[in-house]
Amino acid sequence: MGKDKLRKFRENETFKCLIQPSTSEVLNCDHPLKGNWGREVFGNDNPIVVELGCGKGDYTVDLAERNPSCNYIGVDIKGARLWKGAKYATEHNLGNVAFLRTRIEFIESLFAENEISEIWITFADPQIGREKKRLTAPLFMNRYRNFLCKGGIIHLKTDSRYLHEYSLAMAQQNDLHILAAATDIYGADRERLYDSELSSICGRAAVDALFEVQTFYESQYLAQGFPITYLSFLADHEGEYLSPEWAEDLWKDEGHHFVIPSGLAVASKFYPEG
Ligand SMILES: C[S@@+](CC[C@H](N)C(=O)[O-])C[C@H]1O[C@@H](n2cnc3c(N)ncnc32)[C@H](O)[C@@H]1O
Repeated sequence: MGKDKLRKFRENETFKCLIQPSTSEVLNCDHPLKGNWGREVFGNDNPIVVELGCGKGDYTVDLAERNPSCNYIGVDIKGARLWKGAKYATEHNLGNVAFLRTRIEFIESLFAENEISEIWITFADPQIGREKKRLTAPLFMNRYRNFLCKGGIIHLKTDSRYLHEYSLAMAQQNDLHILAAATDIYGADRERLYDSELSSICGRAAVDALFEVQTFYESQYLAQGFPITYLSFLADHEGEYLSPEWAEDLWKDEGHHFVIPSGLAVASKFYPEG
């Protein structure tokens, strides 16, 4: 391991806002913070928003600075990345920010029923051909259901049209209430987002934040000219989530990004203009 990584890992131990559970604390058992994040970590009952796969934590920190009446938890497994967000939150005394170093697979051991108000999934690996690892797959949705409040929102921001379309298909398959779906938020869809239910439920400021707050990966993809997609829905499904019909074979990988399959039926149901 490089010296810089070791230094960051050592410094991570000193950050009060960074929680790093051991495997034995989360594997098939409940972590002591489960159900107690508000009281023990933030010292209030404000709504808690979680960012899954937050990387360096830029998005978590920026949202937290904009919305001091909410608490934010960035989750990632990579300690050297979390170091950046945790250091910033510590140095700027951000009382409404925490970071959690764990595998998202263990998340049910960390959050209790109704403990979380919103989930952000930002630039996650699309996990091509590996549905069980995809963060919007039924396996994960069933996990989120155990701690997301009724009417809780899931937001997905991604450069991957594959992940966007899969997630939209999953939402439609399970009759989820879709608040907004956009395939190019900085381009053709920008104004349309202000007319979406996201805007009426969360306010125009929430739509402004979609453009003004960028993750580390997002700014890289934007600089390369890739469209950024966005999807949000209420996780209001009762019972087990089902997988969507998904024509994996139609997707052709062109380097990192995908050509949209010409026979894709799913998207056209939500984007009537074609
Ligand atoms: C492509 S990066 C995106 C980081 C950040 N959201 C951004 O946009 O800059 C994906 C992140 O998800 C994290 N990740 C992927 N799978 C994970 C898992 N199962 N549990 C925890 N973190 C995971 C990785 O460590 C990585 O930091």
